[in-house]
Amino acid sequence: MSDSLNPSDRPSADVPVRPKGEPRFPDGPKADPAGSHFERRIRSFQPRRSRVTAGQAEALQRLWARWGTDVDGHAVELSELYGDERPVVLEIGFGMGEATARMAAADPGTNILAVDVHTPGQGNLLNLAEQNGLTNVRVANGDAIILLREMLKPDALDGLRVYFPDPWPKKRHHKRRLIQPEFLDLAATRLRPGAVVHCATDWEPYAEQMLEVLTAHPEFENTQGEGGGGFAPRPEFRPLTRFEGQGLEKGHVVRDLLFRRADQRP
Ligand SMILES: C[S@@+](CC[C@H](N)C(=O)[O-])C[C@H]1O[C@@H](n2cnc3c(N)ncnc32)[C@H](O)[C@@H]1O
Repeated sequence: MSDSLNPSDRPSADVPVRPKGEPRFPDGPKADPAGSHFERRIRSFQPRRSRVTAGQAEALQRLWARWGTDVDGHAVELSELYGDERPVVLEIGFGMGEATARMAAADPGTNILAVDVHTPGQGNLLNLAEQNGLTNVRVANGDAIILLREMLKPDALDGLRVYFPDPWPKKRHHKRRLIQPEFLDLAATRLRPGAVVHCATDWEPYAEQMLEVLTAHPEFENTQGEGGGGFAPRPEFRPLTRFEGQGLEKGHVVRDLLFRRADQRP
């Protein structure tokens, strides 16, 4: 894989001004494809109108039909999405996708389904996939909860990655954190027995919460066994992510958690 993980982009000023009411990317990802804004539910992400560079916009328009998929609530057949039977790992919240692309390049035997609502990141990851010839990445646009709940079959996934999810530090926002018992209930149904959930965070109170809810969940077992505090040593296969770098600059401690879906359902 090439060392350059920042596709050269012209500034967004080059993107033509869109007449009011017209879709942002006619051939690209849809805005709110599953209509989730009408669903009364607490979300783990903050809707943001993000700046999309010309290079990202071009990738969204040109590559979405090939490698993108909208989280629209319709069932998805993973072997059709990739055109092969490689095992599939879901990454929730890939941000700009640099770590996703690196992991996909390092492990071509695994398909990665990368979901996020962040439009610039979707364009960036499509560019990275093309530039690095990655056939094992698909980019999903929308809320991972809907993807898991409505679009994936039971036991469809061979792994789940959640790297530096939004920490929602204020107490009144804790309910927005992704890693909660209800989320794990849902994830457990979509993971095959033995599949590994890999979480990482630089926010210590969230790391403690992750450890607590994963340890308490009857369908997950800590790969670290008893003792050792429960956290895993940082695995070499996980590249530095953008948010992780920011956390390290602030002096935060990074925690990895690796839990396996139990062989038997309770
Ligand atoms: C703090 S960023 C981390 C990005 C990246 N993993 C990194 O470490 O640089 C969290 C990302 O998760 C995404 N996200 C949060 N909740 C999500 C959900 N329910 N479905 C899809 N994406 C979500 C956000 O849009 C954001 O891009």
